[in-house]
Amino acid sequence: MRIRLGRLLRPDSLFSSAKPVVGCSAVPLGTQQTATDKQTAGIATAVALAATLFLTAKQQQQRQKLTRCEDGSVLGDHHRSRSLVSSPVRCETAAVPQGLELAQRTASVSESSIITLDVKSDRPGLLAQITEAMNGQHLDIRDAQIKTAEGGMQARHIYTVKDKKTGCALTDSKIEEVRQVLEKLGEVECSAVAWPTYTQAQVAEHTTKANRIWVSYKNGVYDITDFIANHPGGNEKILLAAGKPIDPFWRIYQQHEGRGNALTQLEKLRIGDLSDPAPAPKGDDPYDTDPLRHPGLKFHNNKPCNAELPEALMMDSWVTPNPIFFIRHHHPVPVIDHDEFRLVVEGEGAKHVSLTIDDLRNHFLKREVVSTIQCGGNRRSDLDKVKKTSGIPWGPGAISTARWGGVYLREVLMHCAGLSLEGVEWNGLRHVVCYGVDGMQASIPIEKALSPFGDVLLAYEMNGEPLPPEHGSPVRLIAPGIVGVRNVKWVGKIRTSKYEAEGVWQRGVAYKGFSPMKRSATEEECAKVQSIQEMPVTSSIVSPAKGAIVDGDDIEVKGIAWSGGGCGIVRVDVSADGGVTWVTAELAEGSEQHPSRSWAWTFWEACVPVTEEMRGKEITVLCRATDTSYNTQPERPEHIWNLRGLNCNSWHRVEVQHDDSD
Ligand code: HEM
Repeated sequence: MRIRLGRLLRPDSLFSSAKPVVGCSAVPLGTQQTATDKQTAGIATAVALAATLFLTAKQQQQRQKLTRCEDGSVLGDHHRSRSLVSSPVRCETAAVPQGLELAQRTASVSESSIITLDVKSDRPGLLAQITEAMNGQHLDIRDAQIKTAEGGMQARHIYTVKDKKTGCALTDSKIEEVRQVLEKLGEVECSAVAWPTYTQAQVAEHTTKANRIWVSYKNGVYDITDFIANHPGGNEKILLAAGKPIDPFWRIYQQHEGRGNALTQLEKLRIGDLSDPAPAPKGDDPYDTDPLRHPGLKFHNNKPCNAELPEALMMDSWVTPNPIFFIRHHHPVPVIDHDEFRLVVEGEGAKHVSLTIDDLRNHFLKREVVSTIQCGGNRRSDLDKVKKTSGIPWGPGAISTARWGGVYLREVLMHCAGLSLEGVEWNGLRHVVCYGVDGMQASIPIEKALSPFGDVLLAYEMNGEPLPPEHGSPVRLIAPGIVGVRNVKWVGKIRTSKYEAEGVWQRGVAYKGFSPMKRSATEEECAKVQSIQEMPVTSSIVSPAKGAIVDGDDIEVKGIAWSGGGCGIVRVDVSADGGVTWVTAELAEGSEQHPSRSWAWTFWEACVPVTEEMRGKEITVLCRATDTSYNTQPERPEHIWNLRGLNCNSWHRVEVQHDDSD
């Protein structure tokens, strides 16, 4: 069997793409200032930088522990012993004019400097002037933290900067220049240091919690110890890089570099520069062999590909055309030689068998199931509005439906691998684990896999066509009613087991739903929480689109509704007045499915009256569905917010503008 995940590519430059994301936050400094437009812009930039690049508590402590050494250098406590021994740095303290103090430490290979400002006044406009002064000095501000003392009279600003002209840490003369400019502002104490530098060998010594866990990325060194437990990709994977460069790992998981979220988090963990970074490896991109994709998809990432079914095309047909079916990948699409491909079935209570594609096609009855697949993070962006979660900020399009053709998993397990219900009981089996050849693994409960009403397929067709590589060719699991991630693509092995699948997508924080109060989770806490299988009832408005102009006496609303576990949809309610009054929608395609085997979504439409008060105004149209278990959707995302942004099924809202001009 030949399976390939493509080749490795030289990554792009980190900092050229690591633009700070501007957000807003209640940073007190500067908020009550009366400023000119220019000053306001300066404040906004500084506050946004500070807000978005805020350091972790640990990191703040570390940086605030910057202390002056006997030789005049400025070092963090955690660096002191190592840096003094090994860092090739020259340290000196510059003259300290009244009210302004400057120290510097330059290293031969340092690429950035830390400028610390102790600002002793909250004079209106001072922050804007500082920002303006730094911009005027052509400083590239890569990280900023503003910490205000109680009462707001004093603040410490810590900026990580490099000289835009040289792309490096500030030279002695540049520091002096910056100091003089800042001195003129008054009420500011300024000190500057270069990052300490470390060698790869020194980074390699840091692989345990006790000794702190370090990694390098391009020219930077990072202490990731406190981040590991909350890594969305799980402990196991991130620890593979302990003491090493993460660059080769991120060439496979390019989503880290794609949206910048991971880069922003990483930058907060920076503790120094790497003096001997490995040359960027040459070679092709592991994603070079990915299929061409339909331009109509709404792309979040391309490497790996994560793209939504656009709402404008969602209801064109009840089954989604293959090219625009949403895509959720974790890796490159594997290139698989179908002639050599074997599907292995094994595990307790089962015979070891190895099947070709022809075996699947020719020795089993072909079955067809129409099933909707929905990503566990669908509509995560609604939760992000409450508070940022981690993961792809999916809109409502991480969901699609297809007619899948293949063989029943239960028939392969029972008739071919000889698994019996007695064998399941006898061996205490609880899970069927599927291994994708791309490295994914996930499991479903064995009861679901073996139920004659579970309709779990090993699919080799999608909407009457051979399964496309993008969607798992030559064979993928279709577990109707179960969260998308368990519908493993490119399945190469199936195993019956007492234990659920290992790895981040089953046991890690990635698919565990916590209380809204939980801001981080340890491995032990994750282990106590059930991994997502069946998803809760949900619905969304597909038309009118957000921001559409509507007119007349009523609004035609159309949408989709779906529930996990095969529950059908009994009702969809639509409201245009915040849920004071409701219109019951007409259920359309999908409503005729078996009430407890409704694997596919249900289309619906409603006509909602526009009252006198609504005319000419912005109207929020909202919907909620109720399934055959009489579960319904919660009103607000705040109440279901969770760390990883999963299972967002609050009432779906769309704002439209009513045009009353006629
Ligand atoms: C060392 C610093 C690292 C940081 C700051 C970091 C950060 C993140 C973030 C923010 C995500 C969520 C991505 C998203 O928005 O979709 C993520 C996911 C992930 N990370 Fe990392 N990561 C690090 C290292 C690693 C390493 C070394 C590996 C692999 C060996 C890795 C493997 C993964 C995987 C597999 C996912 C899940 C991707 C998916 O579900 O598609 N990460 N990481």
